[in-house]
Amino acid sequence: MSKSILNLQSLENKQILTLTPPHTGLSLQGTLQIPGDKSISHRALMLGAMAEGETIIEGLLLGEDPHSTANCFRAMGAQISPLNSQKVTVQGIGLGQLQEPSEVLDAGNSGTTMRLMLGLLASHPHRLFCVTGDASLRSRPMSRVIQPLQEMGAQIWGRNNNRLAPLAVQGQTLKPIHYRSPIASAQVKSCILLAGLMTEGETTVTEPALSRDHSERMLQGFGATLKIDPTTHSVTVVGYPKLIGQKVIVPGDISSAAFWLVAASIVEESELLIENVGVNPTRTGILEALEMMEANITLENKRVITGEPVADLRVKSSRLKACTIEGEIIPRLIDEIPILAVAALFAEGKTIIKDAAELRVKESDRLAVIASQLGKMGATITELPDGLEIIGGNPLNGAEVDSCSDHRIAMSLAIAALNAKGKTIINGAEAAAISYPEFVGSLEKIIP
Ligand code: S3P
Repeated sequence: MSKSILNLQSLENKQILTLTPPHTGLSLQGTLQIPGDKSISHRALMLGAMAEGETIIEGLLLGEDPHSTANCFRAMGAQISPLNSQKVTVQGIGLGQLQEPSEVLDAGNSGTTMRLMLGLLASHPHRLFCVTGDASLRSRPMSRVIQPLQEMGAQIWGRNNNRLAPLAVQGQTLKPIHYRSPIASAQVKSCILLAGLMTEGETTVTEPALSRDHSERMLQGFGATLKIDPTTHSVTVVGYPKLIGQKVIVPGDISSAAFWLVAASIVEESELLIENVGVNPTRTGILEALEMMEANITLENKRVITGEPVADLRVKSSRLKACTIEGEIIPRLIDEIPILAVAALFAEGKTIIKDAAELRVKESDRLAVIASQLGKMGATITELPDGLEIIGGNPLNGAEVDSCSDHRIAMSLAIAALNAKGKTIINGAEAAAISYPEFVGSLEKIIP
């Protein structure tokens, strides 16, 4: 098989990825290492900056989003070595010691950077911070964190009646609250917990379903006292802990592994081993969904590394079946819904995804974009207010599609293209660099 099925054209900072799979005989084979987990990478940089002493991070994601976090914290006085995946060192400045930056903090495309950082900024008295992001981030709702922070006494101003960035934050001494979040969002939960670090007393967040718990795990690893009630999905942080720099080994991102899990499932005669993948149960909804669809995935070599469960994932192609994905599993696979939609297109029957209205406020309106872009390839997908209805089993045709500047859409379209008839042209393929800069290299590696 020739690798000429792939062509990546770069024009200034734009990329066009063209995929022309053979009529028959494509199979994906090999072993892949995937980039570090995005959520854990952000948290390691932030907690490293807030701790006393040195934090050493191995396996940090080198995508654009962690660069945004590192640059923001550098601008507030943290010394962070140049980012590389072997070893990054963060010289902590200590809790409450962020300096007033002389420039606007730019979170780029990263919702996690902006929302988590707001909790820290709001709780730094006597300092003014200005925060912005790219066009996508400036259109994403910030009221979900601003409103609970205001309940704690924060002073934040933003566009659209304090809902949108750019934002100005005048740091304050905050008071503890018990926040009952209407949405299961790790960004909201983490923002409030981080604000609680610098707040006297106990700050609690209760969420309607459990979202990813990397903040809880890492805060405890750095020495914070947390009280966790799994039955009510509540977490309490006790103010003013002594945070001590740690060694953090970042596992591979299951959200990035998901592309290969689906690719090998749908491309006949494929087998891939994806090494060193984080399998925190708050993130493994994708494995459960693919299991419901009768995918052939096994977890090997399970271990725990710096507080996070890790395994190697072996996936072999299989005949997928449709399923319904709804309810509490949604926050545990929220970022994988674009690639699950691709899996559903090759599964027998009608797949229904519900309770996923959050997808409308991600890096793009993912429900609309999945339906429109995969629709161009001949997919039968109906957009629901909070989900998708996908009819599987009909062949896809190559087409000219667009990532709509959304990394997960760019990569999902590439996987769909592997199983489509004819040539697919993906405009805006550069978006993949947000979370997976080596995506095309990995794809080349598994095409024999
Ligand atoms: C993230 C939480 C999720 C997820 C995002 C990363 C995090 O967002 O979609 O990619 O690192 O906390 P929400 O908390 O908004 O659901």
